[in-house]
Amino acid sequence: MTGTTVRIVEVGPRDGLQNEAALVPTDTKVALIDRLAATGLAVVEAGAFVSPKWVPQMADTAAVLAQIRRPTGVSFPVLVPNERGLAQALAAGVTEIAVFAAASEAFSQRNINCSIAESLDRFAPVARQARDAGVTVRGYVSCVLGCPYEGAIDPAKVAEVSAHLLELGCAEISLGDTIGVGTPAKAQALIRRVARDVPVAQLAAHFHDTYGQALANLLACLDEGIRIIDSSVAGLGGCPYAKGATGNVATEDVVYMLEGQGLSTGVDLDALAAIGGWISTSINRPNASRAGRALLAK
Ligand code: HMG
Ligand code: MG
Repeated sequence: MTGTTVRIVEVGPRDGLQNEAALVPTDTKVALIDRLAATGLAVVEAGAFVSPKWVPQMADTAAVLAQIRRPTGVSFPVLVPNERGLAQALAAGVTEIAVFAAASEAFSQRNINCSIAESLDRFAPVARQARDAGVTVRGYVSCVLGCPYEGAIDPAKVAEVSAHLLELGCAEISLGDTIGVGTPAKAQALIRRVARDVPVAQLAAHFHDTYGQALANLLACLDEGIRIIDSSVAGLGGCPYAKGATGNVATEDVVYMLEGQGLSTGVDLDALAAIGGWISTSINRPNASRAGRALLAK
């Protein structure tokens, strides 16, 4: 293994909440982000400037960004699908955005209503303008270990889309197992293949936990040198365009595992567990973090 520090990208306020059917009040989102940003996390994804018709839950992202505290050393990226979304993000004073592509044509159509090639063409001016404005760009690739519509995905396709995003100027590429179907050997093979085209230091692992494989997959990725992990407090989430997919791997579970492995995250696990309990109660959903539940029961 290389490096003993892992950077956690907390995606709960965006990936976690975007699929909630009942609109979560803006105040609750603000409180969630403020509390997460005080735990030692360096990155808290705060929302998405996407079409409110497609994802109504993210419609108040500008209001959320206007109200959150922005402590030094914490960044609050937002998802941006096009130039219109970028303009809104810049107006809101963000310092980091994320564009999102897929390794599956069918998922790309369902998620952003265009082909993979069209999406990459669309992201080129977005990334250029963002970087000109001094804004860091992250690239997501969805369906890296399987697609709800196409089934198995060739790691070479993931590598191709990832390399393209890197060429567009993305500082890091997050590999999304959107529907949580991956298993450790497949995750390992994927990282090995993608790392031939994108330096492993610029790759993040973004695993949903639908089949309960996320922690095992992350361990396999850590062995391949991955040191950036996306997760969601209380395991919040799902994907509006991936029926049946559950939330991201829980941040509490990831931090517990990493600290146990001698890898540091800088995150206060007890504070995180308390937030996980609070948000689960607030939005009336079960707390999906095993470590969180165990810590809260102590
Ligand atoms: P479209 O319908 O093809 O595009 O949507 P359009 O340009 O025709 O726009 C349609 C309407 O949306 C228009 O409004 C636009 O003005 C408006 P109307 O004229 O009908 O009233 N619009 C916008 N509104 C606000 N902000 C914008 C914006 N752009 C257009 N930026 C589009 C194309 C990409 C906009 C749409 O498909 C969309 O917003 N999709 C978002 C899907 C999404 O957010 N999915 C979840 C995030 S991805 C994810 O969760 C995976 C990830 O976690 C990794 C993993 O797990 O794999 C990242
Ligand atoms: Mg996701």
